[in-house]
Amino acid sequence: MTAYSIFLTIHSLTRWAVLITAVLAIVTAWQGWSGSVAWTTTKARFASWFVNTTSIQLVIGLILYGALSPITLKAFSDFGAAMKDSAIRYWAVEHMTMMLIAVALVHIGSGRIRKGADDKAKHRAAAIFFTIAFVLIMASIPWSGVNVRPLFRGF
Ligand code: HEM
Repeated sequence: MTAYSIFLTIHSLTRWAVLITAVLAIVTAWQGWSGSVAWTTTKARFASWFVNTTSIQLVIGLILYGALSPITLKAFSDFGAAMKDSAIRYWAVEHMTMMLIAVALVHIGSGRIRKGADDKAKHRAAAIFFTIAFVLIMASIPWSGVNVRPLFRGF
């Protein structure tokens, strides 16, 4: 067991926490936006769980990216060559960029919820920002293709 395998496994498993909290936060947001429904503490809790799981995932991702992944470390040694290799480019640029945007949207959405003038505005902010972030996250997880990874990785 190496630091790389431990962090990669945690990053792989935390993906499920991200997705579950995303679905809870998004479904309750859309349900509330469609009517005059109160923004409850349960909804606020789902939103903050989604913020927390994506933040944890961001930190682990940054550690993998900057210090542990042999793929990104190889890319840094010759970035020009890495850009020509689609598998390396995927991890060195595409996954990281899309996930950073998604995490930023989750945080912006959370700020908009806090500042929302009324409950409808809070539901709307959660529904819009969290849904776009979720779509980006789903699209940037290597479910299939040349970079496919296991759904559940063991230590
Ligand atoms: C919500 C955010 C994220 C999700 C859901 C996510 C999901 C994943 C998944 C499922 C894997 C494959 C793990 C495996 O091999 O079993 C992975 C790998 C990886 N992710 Fe993320 N990720 C996220 C954010 C990030 C961010 C922000 C970064 C970088 C700043 C990052 C960097 C990496 C790296 C470097 C790898 C591993 C490459 C290797 O195999 O060496 N991830 N990620």
